[in-house]
Amino acid sequence: MNLDLAVIGGTGVYRLAALQNVETHVLDTPYGQPSGPIRVGELSGQRVAFLARHGEAHSVPPHRINYRANVYALHQLGATRMVGINAVGGITERMGPRVLAVPDQLIDYTHGRLGSFCDVEGAKVEHIDFTEPYSRRLRVALLRAAREAGVDVVDGGVYGCTQGPRLETIAEIARLRRDGCDLVGMTGMPEAALARELGIDYASLNLVANWAAGCGDQAEITMEEVFGNLEAVSSQVPSVLSMLLQHAV
Ligand code: HPA
Repeated sequence: MNLDLAVIGGTGVYRLAALQNVETHVLDTPYGQPSGPIRVGELSGQRVAFLARHGEAHSVPPHRINYRANVYALHQLGATRMVGINAVGGITERMGPRVLAVPDQLIDYTHGRLGSFCDVEGAKVEHIDFTEPYSRRLRVALLRAAREAGVDVVDGGVYGCTQGPRLETIAEIARLRRDGCDLVGMTGMPEAALARELGIDYASLNLVANWAAGCGDQAEITMEEVFGNLEAVSSQVPSVLSMLLQHAV
């Protein structure tokens, strides 16, 4: 099957309402089951697969997501380009709530996640190049699509991936800032590395839901704030994706 794009939706993005002629695939993989059904349909005349990373009812927390099954299932459907949509907290000045960003680097602070297709018995050991963790080609295409759709997006930034599901302490975020992180989320890894292992072009569209702990003037982060901001900012995602597909190669 030929797919022009695979999209993995994060918190606040559980479906792509604009998909047309949708078929549903419930897949199994050698790594287990993905987070839920994969919806395949048409967007801007192109064939697109959509998977909700946390499940369509948001029932799978970040540290329990079967990242390998998710990426592998989309690969089985023919994905060669993949956009991950990730809710994040903003750390540095230009990353305030409701900003969209396309990061260009990441630091992985997660632990205990199954982060490679190599760690099953008998698998060929491969050391992928991860100098640039995101596909430059797809990042550029996403940024161009956003510009043409009239959507403001920050170009670049370092994404720090924490374990979750709890949010971070002020001291943890201060450490991430010292490390050079601009954004913090819980789901960007190992997804990006797994995509690279399978030769899939991968980029991430970050939706800033809140100032990370200690970065804004609020004493604590509330879920009302997180979901309110995500609802507002995620409304811009479909037009960016539609524009991206209009330039599909
Ligand atoms: N930290 C980690 N992940 C997040 C945050 C945060 O502050 N907000 C949304 N996802």
